[in-house]
Amino acid sequence: MENIDKIIAIVKKELSSSSHDIEHTLRVRNTALKIAAHTVGADKTIVELASILHDIARVKEDTDPVRTIDHAVLGAEMASAILKQFGYSSEIIEGVSNCISTHRYRGNNLPKTIEAKILSDADKLDAIGAIGVARAFMIAGEYGEPLFKEINDDSNYDYSNKLENGRIENFGEHSPNIEYEVKLKKIPERLYTDFAKQMVQSRIKYMDGFFSKLEMEVKGEE
Ligand SMILES: [Fe+2]
Ligand SMILES: [Fe+2]
Repeated sequence: MENIDKIIAIVKKELSSSSHDIEHTLRVRNTALKIAAHTVGADKTIVELASILHDIARVKEDTDPVRTIDHAVLGAEMASAILKQFGYSSEIIEGVSNCISTHRYRGNNLPKTIEAKILSDADKLDAIGAIGVARAFMIAGEYGEPLFKEINDDSNYDYSNKLENGRIENFGEHSPNIEYEVKLKKIPERLYTDFAKQMVQSRIKYMDGFFSKLEMEVKGEE
């Protein structure tokens, strides 16, 4: 088996939730390689390894009883250890680790290298469009969120609803449409590469239409 297949098998064993499963990982890898092919100066080995390994610590974060684990930070450490075992060079290991530690939307540690920007863009594109709608409801199901929550200007609820480390504090108060309003809608402003910026518009348009229709149906207006 090639190294890549062996690493995919290791990642697969670590992932269990349906919204962040190996399918998400493989979609991110494909999109990232596509972006890399259109971006001058990107190291494709770093891009591929980083996308395969980027969410390796996701389940560890989700199941952490004290909720302090950041899967970007822990994932970078786990990825480095795995790549070392496979005998990758320190340049590759450092490059991959850097991509993973900066890929998180809610993190404050922004991507700086071209490979990190590509991973970040590919991961964000997998959170919008039809895939984004499907994943938002998978996540809602995993955490027991309601299908829809009205966003009221006069409510004293903090819609950003998050802990200091960026995690959602109260899932019962959260919902896919809130996630769309406070986070997913802003993804176009957070993209780095020209290729991703071209892809994003149709996905956001689709999602915008979906959540508007959902709201009308929920209110019995359509
Ligand atoms: Fe992630
Ligand atoms: Fe991801």
